Amino acid sequence: MSSQMSRTLVLERFGTLPRLAERPVPERQPGQTLVRVQAAQVGHLDLNIVDGAFGILPDLPTVPGTTGCGVVLASDTHSEGALVKINGKGLGMRRDGSWAEHAVAPDAAVSPVPEGTDPALACSYFSPAGSAWAAVHSVAGIQPGERVLVTGAAGAVGALTVQVAARAGAEVIGVVGRPAKLAHVPAPGKAVLASDLSPEAVGGPVDALIDTVGGPVLRDALGLVRPRGRAVLVGYTAGRELAIDIADWLLADVALLPVNLMSRGKEVAADTDAMLGDLMSGELTLPIERYTPDRLAEAVERLRTGAAVGKVALDLS
Ligand SMILES: NC(=O)c1ccc[n+]([C@@H]2O[C@H](COP(=O)([O-])OP(=O)(O)OC[C@H]3O[C@@H](n4cnc5c(N)ncnc54)[C@H](OP(=O)(O)O)[C@@H]3O)[C@@H](O)[C@H]2O)c1
Repeated sequence: MSSQMSRTLVLERFGTLPRLAERPVPERQPGQTLVRVQAAQVGHLDLNIVDGAFGILPDLPTVPGTTGCGVVLASDTHSEGALVKINGKGLGMRRDGSWAEHAVAPDAAVSPVPEGTDPALACSYFSPAGSAWAAVHSVAGIQPGERVLVTGAAGAVGALTVQVAARAGAEVIGVVGRPAKLAHVPAPGKAVLASDLSPEAVGGPVDALIDTVGGPVLRDALGLVRPRGRAVLVGYTAGRELAIDIADWLLADVALLPVNLMSRGKEVAADTDAMLGDLMSGELTLPIERYTPDRLAEAVERLRTGAAVGKVALDLS
């Protein structure tokens, strides 16, 4: 096996892009599973790691990729030929990840995926679906009839949050940053441009805000939450910082609540996995842009600039 070669994206310096290289298929140790990767997620977390801008970073050179999906080639624990997802246990953070034709993952980072699942969907759904579920149910506690404002509503987390909140019986208003994305806010969410945000545009105060973009969009949207409402913070693509005038915030009386999927992953896992069936049947939608590894730069650019609609995945099949 070790004489076979594997097309691999290798990061040599933080702040640069990984380059495509032919490397030997990695050696599997006891307790590890060798996977022929078919699809790998390109997510904001992966880019933060590539940039060297995350709290947990690998030694260099490294293979990025915190999540992938493929077929088991060799394992003590998992059946050969089974379709699996690889994620967690430091994959793509402390150890080589999924941006390669072959990946070795600790057995505990390998989980079965229903046969017939689109590998790109299998490696893309958990983070946005889990974040959406955690934001709507675990953190915001959305109740039927409540009015919910969702920012980044055509993004991966935002689009699923719109759908999960609507399923919870909420009236949902989705905010997008550019006109081209208005049509990508999933039904039944109402779509509003961030530059047009006002009490009139959203039909009066909302009970809860679920923000996936941060920065100035968060600042503007916060003012639309009713007193004793909730503002749930998920992401920060538009900016990592929020300046708060404490006196104004106390007066506004809005709870600022964080969503951390790493700490809530286990508690939302069952509900999130149940969403996979609905994503496969089309009852829930999550657009995925697919790129071959030689087009990584384009994929990264689309994700970084916010031009991508939904998730971005590498096709390694
Ligand atoms: N807290 C957690 O545990 C957790 C879990 C998963 C994800 N996240 C975070 O949640 C955020 C959203 O993730 P996602 O997968 O939904 O990302 P996404 O699909 O890229 O969507 C985020 C939205 O942010 C806006 N955006 C993107 N880049 C931008 C830029 N450079 N400037 C301004 N706006 C930009 C875009 O909306 P418009 O074009 O409409 O402006 C985009 O649709 C990310 O920050 C991610 O790291 C957090």
